[in-house]
Amino acid sequence: MFKHSQLESVKARVAHPAHAAMPLHARIQRAIRELIVDGALGPGKPLPASRALAKSLAVSRDTIEAAYAQLHAEGFIDRRVGSGSFVAQMKQFTSGRRLSRRDTLLCGPAPDLSRRGAAIFRSGGIREMLSPRPFAHGVPETRSFPLRLWERLERQVRKENGVQTLLHGDPQGTEPLRRAIADYVNLERGARATADRVLVLTSSQQAMSLCATVLLDPGDRIFMEDPAYYGARKAFDAAGLECVPIGVDREGLIVEQIMAAPPARAVYLTPSHQFPTGTTLALERRLALIEWAARHQAWIMEDDYDSEFHYAGKPTACVQGLDPHDRTIYIGTFTKSLFPGLRIGYVVLPPQLVKPMTVARTLLDGHTAPMAQLTLARFMEGGHFGAHVRSMRGIYAERLDVLAGQVGRHLADFIEPRIPAGGLQMPCVLTADLSERAAIDAARRVGIDILGLSALHAANDPQAGFLMGFAAYTPAEIEVAVRRLAEAFRTITRE
Ligand SMILES: Cc1ncc(COP(=O)(O)O)c(C=O)c1O
Repeated sequence: MFKHSQLESVKARVAHPAHAAMPLHARIQRAIRELIVDGALGPGKPLPASRALAKSLAVSRDTIEAAYAQLHAEGFIDRRVGSGSFVAQMKQFTSGRRLSRRDTLLCGPAPDLSRRGAAIFRSGGIREMLSPRPFAHGVPETRSFPLRLWERLERQVRKENGVQTLLHGDPQGTEPLRRAIADYVNLERGARATADRVLVLTSSQQAMSLCATVLLDPGDRIFMEDPAYYGARKAFDAAGLECVPIGVDREGLIVEQIMAAPPARAVYLTPSHQFPTGTTLALERRLALIEWAARHQAWIMEDDYDSEFHYAGKPTACVQGLDPHDRTIYIGTFTKSLFPGLRIGYVVLPPQLVKPMTVARTLLDGHTAPMAQLTLARFMEGGHFGAHVRSMRGIYAERLDVLAGQVGRHLADFIEPRIPAGGLQMPCVLTADLSERAAIDAARRVGIDILGLSALHAANDPQAGFLMGFAAYTPAEIEVAVRRLAEAFRTITRE
């Protein structure tokens, strides 16, 4: 629990005029974080119950829950169902010496890291699940991947190219793969790409980091969807950018808010299936965004991470294909359409960015592995990629149907599903008197993973809920897991 002086310190920090523009939950989160970083709240110390703190600060309990959720996501606190929230046991706070605020500012939490390095470390990076289980989001079905065919193509490539595939490759990517990607995005996504505008990378995550450092300077503003994909936010935070949250409604990013705000150097968005809401950006908004970018010479980073999987109607053409001003960077990945272990993503660049971005990538990792690139090129040229995506699209559409049906049957007392038009996960909003944290912890105790929505929000009042991935789980697995989740929720709401 807080001492009187600690509570007063939180109140003073929350009320500080310098933070007036920040949403309330973010001000509270920062105030508590500072108490932890200053050493005033040591490892293992309990935090007040959200209801009690809400009362002391005269704010809603949801606001405190949002602040705690963010502190938990950043690794500053642990939350244990039934016993409350506690300051996490972090290495940097167990050195035996209480760190002064000055020490922490000078050294960062880990003594040998730069301030940027320490901030990156504190962000926790991105920890993907090594053995995904229901309902981990964003994971494709890999058990039925045509591995034999892949291996056959790999053997062909090695036979034809010999030791050449063992040497360094072109940092921009092998020509056959760049050509195959350009053909694919032009045909399926309405893009305007040529092989010489494609840069093959290891992931869209790499594309975001590259864009953040090559196109923007620390302190520059970047507009982001709110809620947003955590991987993008972490990449931009790590590059020292100021992420300016822009609301999302049923038609995607609210572009009018961008036009009304002081300009930024760039905007990051997921227009096909907004992450995590699943909405699609309306055509007029796409056009308005392009005009805004041209007017302000700003960059549009279009993350088209899973648009292959659209179930209702045809997917809208990508922003890049509509942009006559060459302000859009189209970011694609094979993580969802094939398998995450492949580690191949790409960008379609405006012509003037091809050289600078290619040079920048040579400093990161040189190039992507040639064998994997050439095998993938062959997989695409042979029509196998199209066939695989078509077959997965049918399977995923059925799994989404099964999940929505099962949720309606067993979880209707707790959540309301927001059935998406595409993608690999379904957002659900909590409707029962059940906090998001309690729901996530209850799920985890029965071997189920769900991703909370609150921590994906920056400014706008977060709606409590979670994402349920469905693509990687068979209908039978989905059914069992939904029943188990319903039982877990029933147990904690009865307690
Ligand atoms: C919106 C979004 N972009 C990008 C990615 C990651 O793709 P990659 O593995 O290519 O970094 C994900 C994965 O979950 C995602 O949800």
